Amino acid sequence: MSKRWLVLGGSGLLGNFLHYYLANLNISVKSTYSSNRVVGRDFFQVNLASLKAFDISLRENDFCPDVIVNTVALTDVDKCESDKGLADFLNHEVVKVLTDWISHQNKKVKLIQLSTDQVQKGDGYPFSEGDREDPVNYYGKSKLQGERVALGLEESLVCRTNFFGKGLEWRSSITDWILNSLKEGQPITGFEDVEFNPLHMKHLCEYLLRLVELDARGIFHVGSHDNVNKYEFIRMVAQHYNFDPSTIIQGVSTGQKLRVARPMSLTMSVEKLEGFLCEKAKNVSDGISLLT
Ligand SMILES: NC(=O)c1ccc[n+]([C@@H]2O[C@H](COP(=O)([O-])OP(=O)(O)OC[C@H]3O[C@@H](n4cnc5c(N)ncnc54)[C@H](OP(=O)(O)O)[C@@H]3O)[C@@H](O)[C@H]2O)c1
Repeated sequence: MSKRWLVLGGSGLLGNFLHYYLANLNISVKSTYSSNRVVGRDFFQVNLASLKAFDISLRENDFCPDVIVNTVALTDVDKCESDKGLADFLNHEVVKVLTDWISHQNKKVKLIQLSTDQVQKGDGYPFSEGDREDPVNYYGKSKLQGERVALGLEESLVCRTNFFGKGLEWRSSITDWILNSLKEGQPITGFEDVEFNPLHMKHLCEYLLRLVELDARGIFHVGSHDNVNKYEFIRMVAQHYNFDPSTIIQGVSTGQKLRVARPMSLTMSVEKLEGFLCEKAKNVSDGISLLT
């Protein structure tokens, strides 16, 4: 029998995309929401406050998954700093609920914990899975704790990533923000000294599925082969949507007054991913060409 997938955070940016990606491949999938109700028979409201509450949520919906993808998180970096209790709950305490639930099952259940490139401070060099982490803000710190809880189960897979693609009515993405600003004629400044290697959500979902099929375990960086700085990225998106890229303003992050510290250049080395899948990862431009 094919595996049953549960996507926690099906009302979020990535979780919602992943739900439909799997459903379109005829993979059995159900997904959850919390405050943003998603209409559809394969979505249900979940309670992750305790092991018992989570178990009841699954029983009420008659679903016993083989694979759990956890995309639930507090992703607002400023909010993580101002409400550390909520960041702790969503970014690592719920992961403990999941690992406890999995430990109580009589069958193998695979956990995929989504994490972030922000577990590093970003000193300009591509960092590897084995490098010592050094987050600069509470988002990164609480996500790192989530990774460690997930890795308490030997079979877990932790995917550190950064992504873009079309968002939802109630949750916009970085590329939605760029497109809307361009349409409204608002000036956009792109930082030349902040690099990253994000993937389009479609490519990310492809990699997640393949990693699960190959029973990958431990930490994997799931990003693009090449990296770009934020200025280049915004220009590439503008060009893709036929806007004049010369309107994008070149800036630098140093000296900017930010409420919360942000990492500088965050390039994840994807050598481990490429070696495991025996192929070169997608480039950023491959993902941009998928934007609709
Ligand atoms: N967005 C990025 O660019 C980015 C970059 C790197 C890594 N990541 C990581 O990728 C993963 C997915 O990020 P995302 O941006 O797709 O997340 P998101 O859009 O912010 O979605 C978060 C999800 O968590 C759910 N949630 C919030 N409170 C909950 C609660 N009390 N109980 C149950 N569910 C709750 C939300 O449900 P409701 O909306 O229904 O309340 C939503 O489905 C995260 O692990 C994030 O750290 C994201």
